[in-house]
Amino acid sequence: MAERLRVLLVGGTSGVLGGGIRAELASRHQLVSFHRHPDPGESPGIEFAPGDVTDPSTFPTALRDIDAVVNLVWYRAPGPDSLFRRTVEGLRELARQAARQGIRRWVQISLPPAPPRLERSVPYLFRRRELEAALLTEPMDVVRIQPSAVFAPRDRLVQVMLQLMERHHRFPLWGDGEYHVSPIHTRDVAWLVGEALAGRLPPLTLAGGPDRYTYRQLVEMLFAVAGLPPRWVRLSPGLARRLVQALNAVGYHALYTYELDWLMSDLLGLPEPPHPGRSFVRLEEFLRSRPRAELGTPAPPSR
Ligand SMILES: NC(=O)c1ccc[n+]([C@@H]2O[C@H](COP(=O)([O-])OP(=O)(O)OC[C@H]3O[C@@H](n4cnc5c(N)ncnc54)[C@H](OP(=O)(O)O)[C@@H]3O)[C@@H](O)[C@H]2O)c1
Repeated sequence: MAERLRVLLVGGTSGVLGGGIRAELASRHQLVSFHRHPDPGESPGIEFAPGDVTDPSTFPTALRDIDAVVNLVWYRAPGPDSLFRRTVEGLRELARQAARQGIRRWVQISLPPAPPRLERSVPYLFRRRELEAALLTEPMDVVRIQPSAVFAPRDRLVQVMLQLMERHHRFPLWGDGEYHVSPIHTRDVAWLVGEALAGRLPPLTLAGGPDRYTYRQLVEMLFAVAGLPPRWVRLSPGLARRLVQALNAVGYHALYTYELDWLMSDLLGLPEPPHPGRSFVRLEEFLRSRPRAELGTPAPPSR
């Protein structure tokens, strides 16, 4: 039988990926959910360790008797750099303390490669790479998993798209729509985390789901799921960018400009990793099997 580990889940079980990890791994491992805000939905059997990765005073209690660490914490906004810097400092300190007390495995939810211009200029990306380079210098096995867009009962991508589509009965076509994305279900990412904890994953894993859609195909499928005829608002890349910039400037953040550029760069159609003995969830089946009332209700943004 596989070893039952006491796992510090940094970022906790209440977010999009944390929820998948709770559903997939709570029966196999003892999860210690380390995050800032208590979640009434945190189920019995999950230990809540209140803490903040930017506050090292919360680390010693959280790390007590831990066998492995899984880190989910990051923020979706592109900046400010000061927040990402503090987060990197905190996570580096957490990793140092973990290594000092003999913890040998760290699973890092990472990000797929982005266009070089974004990798250089957006704190969301370059601070993340800085963190991961530092983790690799610690005397631990560090496994990085790089998921494409993640879908879940309350994700902030597909569910947001459906919600907008159902409200406006039309949807933007950014550029030609021929760039790719391979959405992966949160529980399938969680399964990969389980494989990493068991030492069965290579140090770096690109994680796409079973279907590699062009953006145009993805949106057409969503129109079909919503029971609507496809109606597009066609926008050239330049106009798309200016529109998203303007929306961001007035505080509307369903899509950031760096996310639009990343999507249109055609780097998000990641391959499916090997998954012997498990079938990965297909997005269309997932959406069609969900009660309509549950569609289009994304999770609130991380505070
Ligand atoms: N969702 C995707 O499509 C996707 C795709 C690729 C990679 N990823 C990566 O996967 C990871 C998880 O993403 P997600 O979408 O699940 O995020 P999420 O839903 O925002 O969850 C992140 C969790 O981290 C906790 N957190 C935030 N700041 C913290 C801090 N300073 N200290 C302790 N806990 C903190 C939050 O809980 P509290 O507010 O209670 O602290 C939150 O529930 C991120 O690293 C993200 O970049 C996500």
